[in-house]
Amino acid sequence: MLGHRRMNLMTTDESVRTRGTVFDRDGTLVADYRLGNRSGRPAALDLRLHRLPAEAAAPAILTALPGWVVSAHADTGAVLIASGGRLVRHLHRYARELDPEADGDGWADPRIEVRPVTSVPPSALYDSWIAAYPPEHPDGTSHPNPEDLDVLYHGRVLGPLLDASVVALDRDRVVAAVLVNDAELLGPWISEVFRDPDPAYAGLGARLLRHALGLAARAGLPSIGLAVTEGNPARTVYERLGFRPGESFMHVVLPGGER
Ligand SMILES: CC(C)(COP(=O)(O)OP(=O)(O)OC[C@H]1O[C@@H](n2cnc3c(N)ncnc32)[C@H](O)[C@@H]1OP(=O)(O)O)[C@@H](O)C(=O)NCCC(=O)NCCS
Repeated sequence: MLGHRRMNLMTTDESVRTRGTVFDRDGTLVADYRLGNRSGRPAALDLRLHRLPAEAAAPAILTALPGWVVSAHADTGAVLIASGGRLVRHLHRYARELDPEADGDGWADPRIEVRPVTSVPPSALYDSWIAAYPPEHPDGTSHPNPEDLDVLYHGRVLGPLLDASVVALDRDRVVAAVLVNDAELLGPWISEVFRDPDPAYAGLGARLLRHALGLAARAGLPSIGLAVTEGNPARTVYERLGFRPGESFMHVVLPGGER
């Protein structure tokens, strides 16, 4: 699904429930995964190994899934890369507890108006979103596709938007946004956070995110998660805001197949 390289879409796909399995030549179960697709390729999502270490499991996985995208724990991903796979994305999950007492501050900057993101159409977000992900950004692309943002906004992947999703406006122009989705498999999930790269807005992303955490906490959500690509300096922002690192995953294209 989608050629999307941002923070969430390659971690899970709730619309796909079918599980697949990989067996070795002896008929031993080696791995199972959720069936999906990524960038027009079949994908084995959240591939989990059974008993065998990754080195021993890799030959059966490579044989069973030629040309597939595999998402797996980073250590499994590293073995698949050593076996000829190509790294598409290395990402780190983060999670943060929410506390309505500690996270409950309001919005204090009178120059910037903050509203629910649903008060503007998704097209109002496009300009600052595209500017926030230039081609040299770890999640950047020279062909940004606003459809990737639309599907999050409309809840077509990861589940519906939650009320903690907010947009920041400077004289009616969107300059930052935070999208929080109710992800069935992941729980409340920050699927997007970005700000206009103009230095005038430095720090606005973290401030808006902190505000969104407050809204989420006061709405009774116990915790919230996100994923960030290796090399994205946004990690420092998340760590400063109290997010704790969890598991790391890799998305690897296996050799072979028709492409
Ligand atoms: C993530 C984001 C919303 C944070 O916004 P912010 O709170 O206003 O913070 P800034 O953008 O000013 O910078 C965050 C940190 O990254 C650093 N940084 C930003 N861009 C950088 C770059 N290209 N190279 C190195 N460091 C960079 C900043 O110096 C800052 O670190 P510091 O506070 O220790 O100085 C914003 O950086 C952004 O929109 N990034 C692009 C989209 C993105 O990556 N979103 C997150 C996806 S997981």
